[in-house]
Amino acid sequence: AKDPVRVLVTGAAGQIGYALVPMIARGTMLGPDQPVILHMLDIPPAVESLNGVKMELIDAAFPLLKGAVATTDVVEACKGVNIAIMVGGFPRKEGMERKDVMSKNVSIYKSQASALEEYAAKDVKVLVVANPANTNALILKEFAPSIPEKNITCLTRLDHNRALGQISERLDVPVSKVKNVIIWGNHSSTQYPDVSHAVVETEHGEQPVAKLVADDAWLHGEFISVVQQRGAAIIKARKLSSALSAASSACDHIRDWVLGTPKGTWVSMGVYSDGSYDVPPGLIYSYPVTCENGEWSIVQGLSVDEFSRGKLVATADELVEEKAMAYSCFSS
Ligand code: NAI
Repeated sequence: AKDPVRVLVTGAAGQIGYALVPMIARGTMLGPDQPVILHMLDIPPAVESLNGVKMELIDAAFPLLKGAVATTDVVEACKGVNIAIMVGGFPRKEGMERKDVMSKNVSIYKSQASALEEYAAKDVKVLVVANPANTNALILKEFAPSIPEKNITCLTRLDHNRALGQISERLDVPVSKVKNVIIWGNHSSTQYPDVSHAVVETEHGEQPVAKLVADDAWLHGEFISVVQQRGAAIIKARKLSSALSAASSACDHIRDWVLGTPKGTWVSMGVYSDGSYDVPPGLIYSYPVTCENGEWSIVQGLSVDEFSRGKLVATADELVEEKAMAYSCFSS
């Protein structure tokens, strides 16, 4: 039997946490033959609720779950973890300036980075979900210098999956037949959902999405804004933000990273930019990636037309600005 993998979920008492921990315990993230030990971190005001989640995990009698730690101590939470899903953070509240929210998250991510650096497994893989996801991941990278930068990522897989979903609905084809959409840039409303290279598997081989949809106005207009604004639409409908889809996409992100992407398929991940596609190096930017042997690599050589170029630049500009804002919080 395999040794259990230790998976940290921060903000485990929250909405996403509640949807995510049972998925991990059932094997959705790491596969049906991989035992897991869950490390769940939250803050003191949420401790009762966190203990309730732990009680339910015990009650669910998941065969793969070999242990569950529920704690408000960041050191205990990070000890020996192989995978860290960072869902906890400070939410933007009405009337708060972006800078104030940023400053709260900078201090959270700084201290959690230090704890991961010191106590997690040396090859820990980190996925930041909490917003601003790209910039939180960048801060975590800055303050955990011994964790390889390749091991620090943020979640844009939800946006990727949303794009697949929209194409599937529009063409009335199973979502599993649609592949190779791309989310470029920030997990925010400036992200660029790009279908230039997306295809649908049909009886007649792979067909370009652009050809099947045959409506450039929709692909360059409504499709993009629906994906960009989907989070807001869910909040409006549910009065709560996306949770089951965020949790499911976080599982997809880690599963593909650890177990590999299928041949001929790429996914979107927020990763440390190396200047590929003329994006400024040193940002956490969402790219198309393939994964093999537990490592991602950016898909190279895709054509980027003028329309797309403008969108890649706009979302990079926003990340440069967020980065500057985050760095200005370090001194304060
Ligand atoms: P939530 O408010 O229900 O849960 C957040 C949890 O984090 C709470 O239990 C809170 O007590 C905890 N927390 C706060 N500070 C903490 C700290 N310092 N350490 C540990 N835990 C802490 O929020 P929800 O709906 O679960 O969303 C979580 C985050 O995920 C938000 O930042 C949200 O914006 C983001 N999000 C990101 C998505 C993505 O695609 N990247 C999609 C959906 C949400």
